[in-house]
Amino acid sequence: MIMTAKNKTTLQHLVQVKLNTNLHKTHDEVRREHQEITRKEVIKNRHELFVKYLPRRFSTVNLECFKQDTAEQAKIFRIVKEYANTFDERLKQGTGMIFFGKPGTGKTMLSISLCNELSKKGYFVQYKNCKEVLRHIKSSYHRESRQSEEEIIQQYVQPQLLVLDEVLTEHSMNGELSKHEKHLLFEVINQRYEKMHCTIVVSKANTLVLSKQLGVRTVDRLTENSVALAFDWDSYRKYLGEQK
Ligand SMILES: Nc1ncnc2c1ncn2[C@@H]1O[C@H](COP(=O)(O)OP(=O)(O)OP(=O)(O)O)[C@@H](O)[C@H]1O
Ligand SMILES: [Mg+2]
Repeated sequence: MIMTAKNKTTLQHLVQVKLNTNLHKTHDEVRREHQEITRKEVIKNRHELFVKYLPRRFSTVNLECFKQDTAEQAKIFRIVKEYANTFDERLKQGTGMIFFGKPGTGKTMLSISLCNELSKKGYFVQYKNCKEVLRHIKSSYHRESRQSEEEIIQQYVQPQLLVLDEVLTEHSMNGELSKHEKHLLFEVINQRYEKMHCTIVVSKANTLVLSKQLGVRTVDRLTENSVALAFDWDSYRKYLGEQK
């Protein structure tokens, strides 16, 4: 904006009004106002960061995008929506969820939509593919790494809600997770469990298979207070393909 004499006086006037308003406020009121502005900025920055690292396909999805063509889809949608609406309560109990079932049924989409909603409301949430988490933690073993294993683990422990997607792929369902990888996942999940942070695991495998492959102690922590939701309908990808 070009600073003309007229809008310079307007600006001076506005600053004066602001100063006068503040003059009538107590020190505590001004401090609280500043804290509120900082809090809003933190929420905004965190939300922008959350969106920045989402897979591009899902960067704009929200709960309203999830079509409910069947009673099962509608039931799962209601549970997830209710989870979002009562997240303060969930946090008190550290309640998580397990989304499991067939490919293309919207597990990733719905979990990211839930994260998106909570992130916008100001909660600290993170969505990550399980393989990426393991790769990230293991990157600390390189000599040039600036972060220790524990520091990276903490990045996944701190969010109030963590969605771990693709826990057990076809490969790892057949026992391809190493003992060390299972130990790392236990570390993340157990520390989150102790802090009462909420974890959502998204997988093709049901809890029985998860227990077998990840270990009973890990899945035991995930299932306490949690619901396992079966995505048991036809692939939406197939449907999208047929529409073309
Ligand atoms: N109920 C739905 N309403 C609208 N779009 C949907 C729905 N279910 C799935 N989709 C869309 O179908 C595609 C596949 O969904 P998504 O990737 O979430 O499936 P998934 O269950 O995670 O599959 P996979 O197990 O293979 O990872 C995405 O483009 C998603 O947006
Ligand atoms: Mg998926």
